[in-house]
Amino acid sequence: MDNIQLSEDGCRVIILDQSLLPGEEKYIELETPEEMHEAILKLRVRGAPAIGIFAGYAMAALASQMLRPKAISSCCGASIPSDDVFMQTMREKGDYLKSSRPTAVNLAWAVDRVMHAARTEMFRARQKDPGRINANAGLRRLADAVRREALAIHREDKEMCRAIAEYGLSLVKDGDGILTHCNAGPLATSEYGTALGPILLGREKGINLKVFADETRPLLQGARLTSYELQKAGVDVTLICDNMASTVMKNGWIQAVFVGCDRVAANGDTANKIGTSGVAVLAAHYGIPFYVLGPSSTIDTACATGEDIPIEERNPEEIREKFYEKPMAPEGVKCYNPAFDVTDHSLITGIITEKGIFTPPYNFSDL
Ligand code: MRU
Repeated sequence: MDNIQLSEDGCRVIILDQSLLPGEEKYIELETPEEMHEAILKLRVRGAPAIGIFAGYAMAALASQMLRPKAISSCCGASIPSDDVFMQTMREKGDYLKSSRPTAVNLAWAVDRVMHAARTEMFRARQKDPGRINANAGLRRLADAVRREALAIHREDKEMCRAIAEYGLSLVKDGDGILTHCNAGPLATSEYGTALGPILLGREKGINLKVFADETRPLLQGARLTSYELQKAGVDVTLICDNMASTVMKNGWIQAVFVGCDRVAANGDTANKIGTSGVAVLAAHYGIPFYVLGPSSTIDTACATGEDIPIEERNPEEIREKFYEKPMAPEGVKCYNPAFDVTDHSLITGIITEKGIFTPPYNFSDL
């Protein structure tokens, strides 16, 4: 079963709730925009590409819900909403979903992509019948266009993961040690993952890599998700605390660092989980190649540099007590909890996308 999928009637999104892992593998169904927004905010679905896939399906579910008779009457009296009402309603819902988390560009990218598909369908109908003012494609066709696009995003993500895995695997050899931060595996994408793709593909091909997974404070994606996924796949994985990365590098156990990304600026500066930039500084110190792996949809050339990437700041309680049975700090102590940081492009050896490996000086104009 996919970690993210549409329900049979197309009106709900079903996800594996990542916030409960590794203790509990539970699928939950989300129907309202509020439930979907909460699922992204609370990291029930997380990881940039997975958030994009989820956003596509969320929009498809919300579009299908507009076909329900009750939705039609509550929207526009007894009449069937016109294309314009559909577009306006979907735009509002899309903006609401986009407001859940700011850093991963895939969220806005997916919402905009399905909206573009609906708009194209709408214009097609108008062109077919130019004489008729208010010619409508009709709700069914618009909702189908959104759903088709959402399915395409998911399908393409699977192909993307495989291509990234192949490129990444070409950079390492059997027995190499890989350090990774946060979780950029199948849970964060569709299959294979991005940073974990070469490792999982290598395992299938008999190329065994030894992985050191940073636990990734404060929400422990490395401990809860990366070590869970790799252990399940039979990969040699060792969990370390974030402050142990320097030691394993100094010991000579790491031949490459593989991390994912939430947004890459035009100059190659890369936003990823908080702590990533520190790992990059350490890798440069020890002369270890540092690779960023992600789909080309994560490259946002509208951001000239990392300075333009919005960084999410999260609830201080995540530092003070989340995932612990009792508080780990004095009550009310001031906390600063940025969820991401930006790794300077000068520290990145290569950015591996499904379209190839980019090396400095970064130039994404061909994408
Ligand atoms: O806060 P999260 O868990 O959504 O952060 C995820 C990351 O930083 C991942 O490394 C990134 O999204 C890449 S996932 C393929």
